[in-house]
Amino acid sequence: MLTLNVNGEDRSVEVPEDMPLLWVLRDVIGLTGTKFGCGIAQCGACTVHVDGQAVRSCVLPVGELGDAKITTVEAIGATPEGKKIQDAWLAVEVVQCGYCQTGQVMSAAALLRHNPQPTDEDIDAAMSGNICRCGTYVRIRQAIHQAATGKPVAEQTIAYNLQKGPAQ
Ligand code: FES
Ligand code: FES
Repeated sequence: MLTLNVNGEDRSVEVPEDMPLLWVLRDVIGLTGTKFGCGIAQCGACTVHVDGQAVRSCVLPVGELGDAKITTVEAIGATPEGKKIQDAWLAVEVVQCGYCQTGQVMSAAALLRHNPQPTDEDIDAAMSGNICRCGTYVRIRQAIHQAATGKPVAEQTIAYNLQKGPAQ
């Protein structure tokens, strides 16, 4: 029996210690907002926060978590940076199919927590592990700038980003 602190609540789970956190969140606890993409730490769809850091839950054995505080997309809106990111995401209409977006929001919220005014380069570095098959990268950058500044982002910034191409 393991006890995990998820979204501020202690949850007791009867699982093997080497089970990845993603499986426990989705299949045992029932928090299905976090998505399975690749299962090998390559796409970012499964991103959650562990003690405020963005991590890939598909490759993180639950036995390694101890008393770490896990935050999922279901609770990120209760944090100041998560609320700013979610509001900006809606204002900019970032989402296309939506599958990658949990991971994008979680990585963006972790970025803002550690760097409240990120540059384009900071955003690219922090978000480069989150793949979007719909190609929403430009709107993601715009929304992160908007969340950081609290203001609509100037068109010039978007044009500049388009010239640079999407994050890889
Ligand atoms: S599902 Fe975890 S990184 Fe792709
Ligand atoms: S919005 Fe469709 S994969 Fe990113």
